[in-house]
Amino acid sequence: MKVTVVGAGAVGATCADNIARKELCSELVLLDIKEGVAEGKAMDLMQTATLLGFDTKVVGSTNDYTKTAGTDVAVITSGIPRKPGMTREELIGINAGIVKGVTENILAHSPNAIIIVISNPMDTMTYLALKSSGLPKNRVIGMGGILDSSRFKYYLSTAMNCSPNDLQGVVIGGHGDTTMIPLTRLATYCGTPVANHLDADTLKKVAADTMVGGATLTGLLGTSAWYAPGAAGAALVEAIVRDEKKLMPCCVSLEGEYGQQDICLGVPVIIGRNGWEKIVDYKLTEEEQAAFNKSADAVRNMNGVLSTLA
Ligand code: LAC
Repeated sequence: MKVTVVGAGAVGATCADNIARKELCSELVLLDIKEGVAEGKAMDLMQTATLLGFDTKVVGSTNDYTKTAGTDVAVITSGIPRKPGMTREELIGINAGIVKGVTENILAHSPNAIIIVISNPMDTMTYLALKSSGLPKNRVIGMGGILDSSRFKYYLSTAMNCSPNDLQGVVIGGHGDTTMIPLTRLATYCGTPVANHLDADTLKKVAADTMVGGATLTGLLGTSAWYAPGAAGAALVEAIVRDEKKLMPCCVSLEGEYGQQDICLGVPVIIGRNGWEKIVDYKLTEEEQAAFNKSADAVRNMNGVLSTLA
């Protein structure tokens, strides 16, 4: 199994670190356009191999895609991250060209690769990767909902003073401060609804904190977060390479499911060796569906910007 991570910034390098530690592949290529950075981070990671006991070979590459040939799963993290006060959407002008070029280069050397998109604005970048590549829809997956759901469970666990691992919770819709939808109605604590344990106002605050989870970190760090985004990317790679059939909320192409089409948006899907294999219908309430439709409108608006870019 071979995995490539494009972009050796904080998210890409953290994702690569998690992939190597978990030995998700025999070869892992880390690629970046900045001279020497990917080679340096790959070497640094390889020098943890005997400390952590992994046998994945990590190779760095400065923009040489021949090294990525035969990739089974490619993770695209390239592009500029947001700064405090910026929305993910403001990155579209620069990141669209980058994501399109990276997708082309990956597929030129690995026509069978499954593409994971992390670059922001993620929903629009996933749509772009799908449309510009012409790949079968199951092989293009946007990673946002896994991260947002992990943040959701973090905020729930803080409010409940319990282990985040005893919680189940899913965030669907767009990966944006105003477009994501934490499904509080369906969140559970060891099989019981979280609404049994938290009052309505606290639940509302948990959902609101989740939605701006990325922005909160950007404010604290001065740049976009990386530990959870990198780990979430690796969790998605793991579900693919191990053919886990896990349910993960991911950004995928909708063709009528959840009442939407011609859009990539976050919904619960089954992830396995073929990419995303099936969309799971959560049977949203009218209110949840209205929020989903609103989220779709905002993402569709953003997708419209693509046609105005050179
Ligand atoms: C975040 C970025 C990765 O939510 O979108 O932290």
